Amino acid sequence: MQKIEKIQTKDNAIQLLNTALEHEWAVSFEYIIHAYSTPKAKLFYYDPILKTTMDARAQTIQIGIDEMYHSLQLGIIIKQLGGTPSFKSDELFRFPKVIDNFYRDKKTEDLVTHLYQTAEFEDGVFPKIQNMILNISYDEVRHAEQFTAMICSMKNEGSEDTLCFPSYPDASNREDVQILHQIMRLENELLHRYLKYVIDFSEHQDLCQRLYKNSINHMRHWDKNAGILIKLGDVIQIENAEKDVNGVEKSTNPMPSFYPGEDRISALETLIPTENDLILLYEKLIPKISNKDITEQLNRHLALKREHLFTQEWLLKNAKKIKGLT
Ligand SMILES: [Fe+2]
Ligand SMILES: [Fe+2]
Ligand SMILES: [Fe+2]
Repeated sequence: MQKIEKIQTKDNAIQLLNTALEHEWAVSFEYIIHAYSTPKAKLFYYDPILKTTMDARAQTIQIGIDEMYHSLQLGIIIKQLGGTPSFKSDELFRFPKVIDNFYRDKKTEDLVTHLYQTAEFEDGVFPKIQNMILNISYDEVRHAEQFTAMICSMKNEGSEDTLCFPSYPDASNREDVQILHQIMRLENELLHRYLKYVIDFSEHQDLCQRLYKNSINHMRHWDKNAGILIKLGDVIQIENAEKDVNGVEKSTNPMPSFYPGEDRISALETLIPTENDLILLYEKLIPKISNKDITEQLNRHLALKREHLFTQEWLLKNAKKIKGLT
């Protein structure tokens, strides 16, 4: 992580915000992958901030969502300053033991807290950005305390050897599971593409709120599908990952790094075929599943994809009707 200590000019501010954005973008994804690989309702811990017992998996998802909000906040301010948000992703690790993922996540939190809290703003320069950075940093402080509590409780309860969900070859070679992986990939891609466009078009609330709603829907479906995948005997895959002899997976290219569409029309145009592809995949998958609860869930997802398609087609048509719209 690049270190930017002195913030005096607009360029310094954009540089700090972009370093932070790249980090937030990458870790939100890493935390979600870690959470989706962690057994559900098995690892509980006493949360020192919430002062109640929490499911480590569920709270890790929540922390991942906090990081998505941080990305949004940072990206929107970069746009306001006239900069170009950077959506580079970073390397991602998944360890076989749940506790090792939490150790990494805790370390990440400490690193970013340091980045935020050591950024030195010249007096009176960008006071609101300075305030935002400080506010975000205390979310990171909370996250670090929460990951620490998860680790301590696993150690105290003797569950430090708990493994992530494995991938069973019998399952991962099945056609339904492979289609579900393709769906997961597209849900993730669309979630992030919508989020990027929220930032790109944040100067006006109409388009940005609509895209944000769709992004959240894709997040929810990605989440539900992660659970379905486990019921089918597999676990979320990490794109382009290599596994070492100890079973540690590492990917330097784990998520989309290319986001097509620069202006309103071209961005809207690129979303429609992807929404369509997703619909086709759900339509292909549903008849292959025999479990009624799962098909009901998938049908609900499919219905919402059709709503997205309808909306996106009209957003595009309406945008094309108006001269001078950027
Ligand atoms: Fe964050
Ligand atoms: Fe965090
Ligand atoms: Fe959609």
